Amino acid sequence: MSKKIIIFGGHGTGSVIANAIIHASQNGYNDVIFSGFLNDQGLDKIAGLPVLGSFKDVNKFIDKGYSFIFTAHKIGLQKERIDLLHSFNIPDKQLAKFIHPFSYVAPDSKISPGCVVMPGATVSSHVKVGPNTLIMSNASIGHDNIVGENCFFTSNSCTGSYIKMGDGVWIGLNATLRGRLNIGSYSAIGMGSVVTKSIDENELWIGNPARFHKKVNEKITY
Ligand SMILES: CC(C)(COP(=O)(O)OP(=O)(O)OC[C@H]1O[C@@H](n2cnc3c(N)ncnc32)[C@H](O)[C@@H]1OP(=O)(O)O)[C@@H](O)C(=O)NCCC(=O)NCCS
Repeated sequence: MSKKIIIFGGHGTGSVIANAIIHASQNGYNDVIFSGFLNDQGLDKIAGLPVLGSFKDVNKFIDKGYSFIFTAHKIGLQKERIDLLHSFNIPDKQLAKFIHPFSYVAPDSKISPGCVVMPGATVSSHVKVGPNTLIMSNASIGHDNIVGENCFFTSNSCTGSYIKMGDGVWIGLNATLRGRLNIGSYSAIGMGSVVTKSIDENELWIGNPARFHKKVNEKITY
């Protein structure tokens, strides 16, 4: 039976993922059906798609059997966003996993509940991806990576092999990471950066080669 999906969020990443689910349904992939957003801004629709309620309504929709995807990622607020998601106490089986049919995930890789793999993205062999991580279009995850929960791989980001990544890591457009690095939880990498060294927790790195830019904070906009 198809899973009915509700997305937390709506603007930006939420609508992008909603459209990918709708596109997959239109192409005959009916494991998941997009139902609407939960969003706290009091809107009826976002990008022409329905808002079913606000975050406080989550229990009602859990009881009705919906499954959920969380898209409210933000540089500098990743820890807070993970805490918010955990506060909803969504059972694992109701965290929706959406792997778009135009992506590649190696058969021996493990994608956890709540994750999204968008069109053109590739996850190479023997990779473990933690819950609620979003792998956007054309991102490429190298073999033997171990990725934490609620990480965000933006489009065309690319990781070498054997990388270990904590929770809530945010990787910018077209960033490239050398293999065998450790990336600390809640750290972020700017667009186009080439990361050649391991990164501690809560740090924003930018440039080619990437250098420490600042500690992450809630004021950073992308
Ligand atoms: C790094 C980033 C988060 C901005 O951080 P910030 O601290 O607000 O940086 P600022 O915009 O104040 O720029 C500070 C300096 O860094 C430079 N800079 C910013 N981003 C950079 C990047 N990715 N690579 C190299 N240099 C960068 C700026 O040009 C500026 O240089 P200057 O001091 O010589 O003028 C942002 O530029 C970025 O890369 N965002 C990711 C975008 C993305 O991938 N979006 C996906 C959307 S889904």
